[in-house]
Amino acid sequence: MATTLITGGTVVNATGTGDADVLIDGETIVAVLAPGSTLLGHDLARSVDTVVDATGKYVIPGGIDAHTHMEMPFGGTFASDTFETGTRAAAIGGTTSIVDFVVQYPEQNILEQYHAWHEKAAGNCAIDYGFHQILSDVQDSSLTAMDELITEGVTSFKLFMAYKGVFLSDDGQILRAFQKGADNGAMMMMHAENGAIIDVLVQQALEAGKTTPYYHGISRPWQAEEEATHRAIMIADLTGAPLYVVHVSAKQAVEQIAAARDRGLNVFGETCPQYLYLSLEDQLGAVSEEWGDFEGAKWVCSTPLRSKHEGHQHHMWQSLRTNDIQMVSTDHCPFCMKDQKDMGIGNFAKIPNGIGSVEHRMDLMYQGFVSGQITLPRWVELTSTTPARMFGMYGKKGVIQPGADGDVVVYDPNGHTSIGVGKTHHMNMDYSAWEGFEIDGHVDTVVSRGKVVVDGGSYLGSKGDGRYIKRGLSQYLV
Ligand code: URP
Ligand code: ZN
Ligand code: ZN
Ligand code: ZN
Repeated sequence: MATTLITGGTVVNATGTGDADVLIDGETIVAVLAPGSTLLGHDLARSVDTVVDATGKYVIPGGIDAHTHMEMPFGGTFASDTFETGTRAAAIGGTTSIVDFVVQYPEQNILEQYHAWHEKAAGNCAIDYGFHQILSDVQDSSLTAMDELITEGVTSFKLFMAYKGVFLSDDGQILRAFQKGADNGAMMMMHAENGAIIDVLVQQALEAGKTTPYYHGISRPWQAEEEATHRAIMIADLTGAPLYVVHVSAKQAVEQIAAARDRGLNVFGETCPQYLYLSLEDQLGAVSEEWGDFEGAKWVCSTPLRSKHEGHQHHMWQSLRTNDIQMVSTDHCPFCMKDQKDMGIGNFAKIPNGIGSVEHRMDLMYQGFVSGQITLPRWVELTSTTPARMFGMYGKKGVIQPGADGDVVVYDPNGHTSIGVGKTHHMNMDYSAWEGFEIDGHVDTVVSRGKVVVDGGSYLGSKGDGRYIKRGLSQYLV
């Protein structure tokens, strides 16, 4: 097996930073050594197969994006990244593991869906991948299948309080699924928006001729998110199940999560880069020469981008510091403007929901360090270590230490990354939701289970490098 030595860098773990060399043997980190160490008198750099010079750079555990939707069937089409294109873009951006969602629509059998997702992913992924399972209708067979899925390494289940007739589960169904989660130790994940309220507001907006993407945001108000978040917390409290609220965007929802945590509940929240940087006014309300007032469709996702006048972004950055929100995923669910998003011209409700960011999360969150909003170890914790602990991968993933998988990123703080189509953009989308973002920093080298898959920004890996991650139960519960 090949050996790799990453020398001269500053290793950043969630627990702190220190100058060290990292030795990888085969697929596994075997030593974290004082800089320039020798082993039994041998100059290490001379005896390994590959030396990666990380002088002046950060050496971090590979990013873990625990919320992606590769080739997801949704909104009458499929998310435009396949497992192949999406995981390659992730690797280029310094992410070495994803956890994707197996979809179940009403009346589908969840075990059949689970096997279908394995077929889509196997042999196609550039990086390691795990699965969460979506539950829509909660059939008796789904409840028994939850036990079986846990033995397969699917230890987290997502339900929806929105998208009636598509994904929505009613409160009784949610209760039954949460009871099962409390019983078997699964993490219950929730898309927390009040779907009934949203459906009426959408109808009223369309009837009033308010059909542009801006009204997608207006018809999904923060009250619908706060209410649903509260309801999910009450069901978690009642049943004793741990709860992970996905894609939190409203500060009022954060406050619900913070209050539950103050009461000692196992309630957790995830946010996404779009809720830290983008807004209702600047993105959903955007107008362009090419698309006119349909330009905002590029940023139609749910929960929606919030008003920049209500303090959501500021509060969200603060909650990342205080651990009221524990981690940052992308909710990567890309759709092209042509032939996908454009289905919603004249009716925002027909725009497939989702934004693509899997390639840019590490860079975008690094900007939080550059701007003084988070520390370097917190950057690693939010993007790698907590995702690993939250979803039962820690030890192998999310940390640079002996015994961990050789998933390592060399990040250059003096490098620069220009995001945009024709610049840094490897996702299968005909636009970038992050066009024009300039990043202080650069992903230089990416090592995935011991294999150098990105060097100097060039992709050297191949599809099939990625392997299924059989996850354990959450390691984050108190
Ligand atoms: O707009 C979004 N978030 N699309 C993906 C599906 C979901 O709800 O996570
Ligand atoms: Zn969702
Ligand atoms: Zn999602
Ligand atoms: Zn560089």
